[in-house]
Amino acid sequence: MKLRRWTAVAAVAVATAAVLNTLPATASRPYDPTAQSLGALGQRHGLYIGTAVDMDALADPNNPKYRQLAASEFSSVTAENVMKWESLEPTRGNYNWAQADALVDFARRNGQRVRGHVLVWHNQVPGWLTSGVADGSITRTELRELLRRHITTVVSRYRGRIWQWDVVNEAVSDPWDTPPTLHYKGFWAQHLGPGYIADAFRWARAADPKALLFYNDYNIEAFGSGDPANDKTQFVYDMARRLLAEGVPIDGVGSQGHLGTQYPNYDTFQVTAALKRFSALGLATAFTEVDVRSRLTDGVLAGDAEEINPRLQASAANFSVLMKACLADRHCLSYTVWGFTDRHSWVPGTFKDPPQGMATLYDEQYRPKRAYQEIRSDLVFAGPPYVLPRATHRPRR
Ligand code: G3I
Repeated sequence: MKLRRWTAVAAVAVATAAVLNTLPATASRPYDPTAQSLGALGQRHGLYIGTAVDMDALADPNNPKYRQLAASEFSSVTAENVMKWESLEPTRGNYNWAQADALVDFARRNGQRVRGHVLVWHNQVPGWLTSGVADGSITRTELRELLRRHITTVVSRYRGRIWQWDVVNEAVSDPWDTPPTLHYKGFWAQHLGPGYIADAFRWARAADPKALLFYNDYNIEAFGSGDPANDKTQFVYDMARRLLAEGVPIDGVGSQGHLGTQYPNYDTFQVTAALKRFSALGLATAFTEVDVRSRLTDGVLAGDAEEINPRLQASAANFSVLMKACLADRHCLSYTVWGFTDRHSWVPGTFKDPPQGMATLYDEQYRPKRAYQEIRSDLVFAGPPYVLPRATHRPRR
């Protein structure tokens, strides 16, 4: 590296260190980072810490703790379900905005940013749409027009109020699907072909020039073999690079981060390397749905500490790997958990045989777990030269 470049890097690092180390302490009240929320600690790095929000829990008057933590602990929120097509347009032509509006209002009142989730996904599509396609009453041309209208309607309604949109979600198959060679999967690819992906980004951009537009998927935390036939991260990387080359307005790639303590998972360097390869394309990155589930054995369910403790520790380590990797990439703009309490998590309802759970930062009684403390410590102790403030990302035209 040339001397001038080194000097510039050193100057940034020193200036950053100065900012990060400016502690809001007074003689009577020493600075205590452990007393700050995740959101406040994230701000030291320009990193937003978010959560998916269950709107029923948020509205439940008998559940004040849920509302209080959602408001105070996080600097960004995502709708867990209420911005999905089946929730927004349960009957054809009749949009029901109440719950999505309520989330956006909640965020505004609490000074939080919003990740919009999700414009195009093969799940939670309204029944009238899938049955219309199945019985032939909705043609391919009409389907494409319905998708364009849906994206335009939703993005326009929240124009200027959504920071990042998950435009396309989970478009790529997994190695355990049939055929095992990775491919574009699901309802939209089947009926419109993979061209719907570029279309969706272009329609979203036309409706909101200022939102950052993301592709979002799971099992893309690290690269594998490098062969796009069986390495999903490589497949998504190649797709993003192609979209960019075609001038499609994609601004970021979201890595969901659904992990489990029963799997080998990745170390911090592997995850950092993946984020940096995506951001080297000029993209923002984000962890968008982090949780770390565990098998609930008979011992766990009976309260056996020897079975519970290793799970809590492995969960903390995995939450922390993703947080450290995100901190290490200046283009990783946000770290969002998919629910923050085991009282409201999609995991137990989905993984029943064998049962799984314990996936979030707080237990069912809203007691913070070790995972919560570990990611806080990552936010407290990280700094230059390896962790620098976030880079600025502007929406691509
Ligand atoms: O609202 C109905 C309720 O009226 C009914 O009585 C009940 C009976 O099953 O179902 C309720 O709907 C459930 C809905 O969540 C709201 O709780 C659906 O059955 C259930 O399938 C749905 O699950 C959601 C899942 O996406 C659907 O695939 C989860 O809450 C949500 O966390 C999950 O989120 C996804 C992301 O969008 C994309 N990435 C993966 C992630 C986890 O699967």
